[in-house]
Amino acid sequence: MAKNKNNQAIWNTRIKKKASTLFAKVGSSIDIDKRLYKEDIRGSIVHVEMLFKQKIISFKVKNKIIYGLQKIEKQISKNNFEFNKKYEDIHMNIEKQLFQMIGEEAGYIHTARSRNDQVITDFKLWIKSATKEINTNIEKIIKSTLKLSEKNIETIMPGFTHLKNAQPISLAHYFMAYVEIFKRDKKRFTNNLDNLNECPLGVAALSGTSFNIDRHYSSNKLGFNQPTNNSIDTVSDRDFVLDFLYCVSVCSMHISRIAEELIIWNSDGFNLIQLSDKVVTGSSIMPQKKNPDLLEYLRGKSGISFGNLFSMLTILKGLPLSYFKDMQDDKEIVFKSYDTLINCLMIFDEILKNISPNKKKMLELANLGFITATDLADYLVKNHAMSFRKAYQKTAEIVNYAEKKKKKLNDLKIEELKKIEPKLTSDVLKVFDLRNSINSKKSYGGTSFENIKRMIMKYKKNK
Ligand code: ARG
Repeated sequence: MAKNKNNQAIWNTRIKKKASTLFAKVGSSIDIDKRLYKEDIRGSIVHVEMLFKQKIISFKVKNKIIYGLQKIEKQISKNNFEFNKKYEDIHMNIEKQLFQMIGEEAGYIHTARSRNDQVITDFKLWIKSATKEINTNIEKIIKSTLKLSEKNIETIMPGFTHLKNAQPISLAHYFMAYVEIFKRDKKRFTNNLDNLNECPLGVAALSGTSFNIDRHYSSNKLGFNQPTNNSIDTVSDRDFVLDFLYCVSVCSMHISRIAEELIIWNSDGFNLIQLSDKVVTGSSIMPQKKNPDLLEYLRGKSGISFGNLFSMLTILKGLPLSYFKDMQDDKEIVFKSYDTLINCLMIFDEILKNISPNKKKMLELANLGFITATDLADYLVKNHAMSFRKAYQKTAEIVNYAEKKKKKLNDLKIEELKKIEPKLTSDVLKVFDLRNSINSKKSYGGTSFENIKRMIMKYKKNK
């Protein structure tokens, strides 16, 4: 293990007493922010390249520093690096190690920068790649959902409002709603990338620097659009953290809603879907049980994401400009939210691959609750020149009659219907057919089989 022989804090010339052990323990963030090592080294390499280009450091110093940094990166990735809590964070740990490795010339690396701009640069770079990783996982969910939809275009179920039977729908139409949801989540994350695309590097502690640096060069090399515009705002800003946490929260909230719905559908009362043994757990006492624990896990985890968003808002609330130690916790919060979301996305994808609809039960349920009543009202409007409100009342009378007779709408005889509305002919009976009802919903975005097929094709082509 490469060990730091010089076991002193960088500020030991000024601060003579050793930090209280208690403070050293709580003040150190290395256990958390060591996750930023790649981004930190990437930022440092670009920084010294810029310093050389601007003739602030020599060619030799630049090369020596880059050589050292690349070696350190290898040591860390091979788990061959000893992190020291005494050096607080990833930035100081790497700088200290650079001294060990290349000697005094390491001292040039921190010219015209501060940890304040360094940490946000690292963090923005990290959030950029985390966002890409999240979107790759969301894309997998979209693909699995499209597959599931394709298999269930003609699977009929009741669509619910208030969890009461409302109108018949295709199960694929329901699943395709997830596709819209997750597409929006992806877009929300992508929009964030635009917002955080300004490079903080070079604003130094808070006021900029007297060195003749080229911030546009660093920004460009690190893949940002442009440098940030105000040095004070730059080191104070954690809006990009809030935005990311918000996106994570919305996505977790969606997963939680869907998980809840699937839990209901899987309950013995509804029994609309089956979960394969891969995604259920048993009970320690009740031998018959197969519990949807994983769905419950997904539903619960949204609480963690919301909490994290609130923690960050609360940390920032009332915090004057510019940098304060309070903000150091941003990384722990973001890493936690990210890890939780990635887990949830992977689990949810697994669940999508292990669900099977109980088609018979879905159809049975869709036949209850006078689910085609709206179709009858629409029919009256179209065929008997009634206003919708009038047709609604007539239909309600027919529903009342059927309920009294304990019949379903499609059990009614034309003679019975005629007693309530004499204009009706036997042609009306077709509106009580569930397939006809579904197929009639041809308006853009409606549940007709044709619409669904078209949308699946469109999204399969990734449009
Ligand atoms: N580890 C610190 C953080 O994450 C880096 C910035 C330290 N800056 C300072 N002025 N103490 O916030």
